[in-house]
Amino acid sequence: MTESHLTPIPLLVPDLPAPEALMPFLQRMHAARQYSNFGPLTCEFETVLRALFAARSPAPLGLTTVANATLGLELALTALDLPPRSRVLLPALTFVATATAVLRAGHLPVLADVDAQSWLLTPEIALRAAADGKVDAVLPVATFGAPHAMAGWHDFERDTGIPVVIDAAAAFGSQWLDAPTGTAVFSLHATKCLPAGEGGFVVSNKPELIAKVRQLTNFGINLNPAAGVPVGMLARIGTNAKMSEYHAAVGLASLATWDTRAALRRALHADLRARLDAAAGMGVLRWQDMAEPIAAPTLLCVRLPDAGGRDRLDRLCAERRIMVRRWYQPLLNAMPALAAHSVCLPAPAAAGIAMDLCGLPFYLGMADADEARLVDALSAALDEGQSACQSAGSPEARRSA
Ligand SMILES: Cc1ncc(COP(=O)(O)O)c(C=O)c1O
Repeated sequence: MTESHLTPIPLLVPDLPAPEALMPFLQRMHAARQYSNFGPLTCEFETVLRALFAARSPAPLGLTTVANATLGLELALTALDLPPRSRVLLPALTFVATATAVLRAGHLPVLADVDAQSWLLTPEIALRAAADGKVDAVLPVATFGAPHAMAGWHDFERDTGIPVVIDAAAAFGSQWLDAPTGTAVFSLHATKCLPAGEGGFVVSNKPELIAKVRQLTNFGINLNPAAGVPVGMLARIGTNAKMSEYHAAVGLASLATWDTRAALRRALHADLRARLDAAAGMGVLRWQDMAEPIAAPTLLCVRLPDAGGRDRLDRLCAERRIMVRRWYQPLLNAMPALAAHSVCLPAPAAAGIAMDLCGLPFYLGMADADEARLVDALSAALDEGQSACQSAGSPEARRSA
């Protein structure tokens, strides 16, 4: 029964700059009378982001902003210039946009498994898929913001010739292009750690790919006097995926406080995780294994001991007005609208994760009492499971069975 006197605990609360922090950027925008079309704020935002990536990259790179990561993925795939209906490998455990971007780019999603510990589609999984069937491109996902080791993907691309684009939507500050080749797409959605409200960017050690993506975000119009096509002429079939100056203003203001906010996110994540582990008993909860910790976590995802445990936690949280979410579920291969247009490879590890994965409330400013309420709900769910087990094993239970 719902305990309606309790204040609801939300799943997440966006952390955007206050209007006062935006004002200097909005005033600059208004003074320049430029509100979109690669204006001064967008160009400044791109320059700062490019410098952050360049500082960690062994190769020159290009970067362009986009209206959102979904369009960034679609246009990065388009810019690869693959034949129509090319087979693009992506994990079955991801947000739907990874797959819809493949379809909208005119290609065929091939849904693959993930590693059971890291929850990532790894180069080893991609190599096996490419040995068993045709793979024309790979779209690994930085699952829940966990970064990929780029050296492995660089080797994969060099050895197979198959291009790789990382869907790093939730991995700003964690995913870098620290290998000779790499391409990644980031989201700046309100729920991400570098929020612009809506927005994204594509970064790559292939500057020519970035030039194509930039042109595609601007309808496909040529703006380069050195190109063979006159300036203003349509060079490719693009769309409107430009970032507006309003969004760049929010992005720049977010960037100004990112380090402090990221440190708070890390501290809260570590604290909550320690409290949940202490309540459950060490090793009962299963967390995502990561080569590098997430620099600015935005989600708190954990695997319960089993599907029954997750059901009990879901029910208790609903009763206690604590919002939880089964992130990335159902798996893409269980969504008829997608599966009908995709190739579904066996994905036992992803299916196992989807049995018991639960997204718990996590946001900056979460009250200590709310953390305690969440920990208490988890303890109660695990205790209930233990009592159910004991009574199932009791002589009474065996007699009545
Ligand atoms: C893995 C993944 N890819 C793509 C997206 C889409 O990003 P956007 O909302 O910027 O289009 C998301 C959004 O959360 C995501 O989690």
